Amino acid sequence: MTKIEKSLANMQEISKAGFLRYPDEFVVGYFARNSWNRVLDFGCSTGRHTKVLCELASERETGICDIGGGQQVKLKNHTIYALDLDIEVLALAKKRAPYSVTITPEQINIIPETSLDSVLTWNCLHMNSITEQEKIIKTFNRLLKQGGTIVSNHISTKDSKHTTNSIENIVEYKSKNRSYEIILYFYNLEKIKEIYTKNGFDIIEIYKRTKENLLNNHIVEYYLIVAQKK
Ligand SMILES: C[S@@+](CC[C@H](N)C(=O)[O-])C[C@H]1O[C@@H](n2cnc3c(N)ncnc32)[C@H](O)[C@@H]1O
Repeated sequence: MTKIEKSLANMQEISKAGFLRYPDEFVVGYFARNSWNRVLDFGCSTGRHTKVLCELASERETGICDIGGGQQVKLKNHTIYALDLDIEVLALAKKRAPYSVTITPEQINIIPETSLDSVLTWNCLHMNSITEQEKIIKTFNRLLKQGGTIVSNHISTKDSKHTTNSIENIVEYKSKNRSYEIILYFYNLEKIKEIYTKNGFDIIEIYKRTKENLLNNHIVEYYLIVAQKK
């Protein structure tokens, strides 16, 4: 197992322990206010966003808004693909979102070219080197329709987890009294923008989300990005 594979396996272990339980507010807002039929949740892990996407699609198909119960019906006009490297997290995603189509990277070609309205890739790209990120963005370009969007986030170099001057950092995550080493890649904003613009996308929304603990100055900072295929 390479050190990156080990890092990704550690992240999957943390996710299986319930770390990624609730959806991100930005993701919910984006997919609630935009219209779409086919979406890929790339790096879905245990499917907290796959579930919300299926709920939103169910609401659109039934006309019933059920924010309390999160109703999910068999989808007719929507397809939610959910992809991850790990089959155990995929099984959990399928349990949370039974009408999603869960796939491994080897199965990505079941998605027709230029068929997707959006790709969601949340807390995922910065677990990959720049070369890998570029390969992934190129794949998204192939699968998205013209005008289709990537909704993503990238960790910022100002985040306190960035403890060295190098791009690749080993970060300790604690979960249920255990500590896991995860490799994260910290690129500056110009470099992040370039990954999209070099590969056929315009950045149409970009936000900086900072959470600063005023007691110990610990900073959690991410860029939230919407990029549109030209
Ligand atoms: C921190 S989790 C985030 C999961 C999910 N997007 C969320 O926000 O709840 C990152 C997930 O991305 C997956 N991942 C990272 N790089 C990947 C790649 N190149 N291909 C497929 N999955 C990847 C990992 O296996 C892991 O399950």
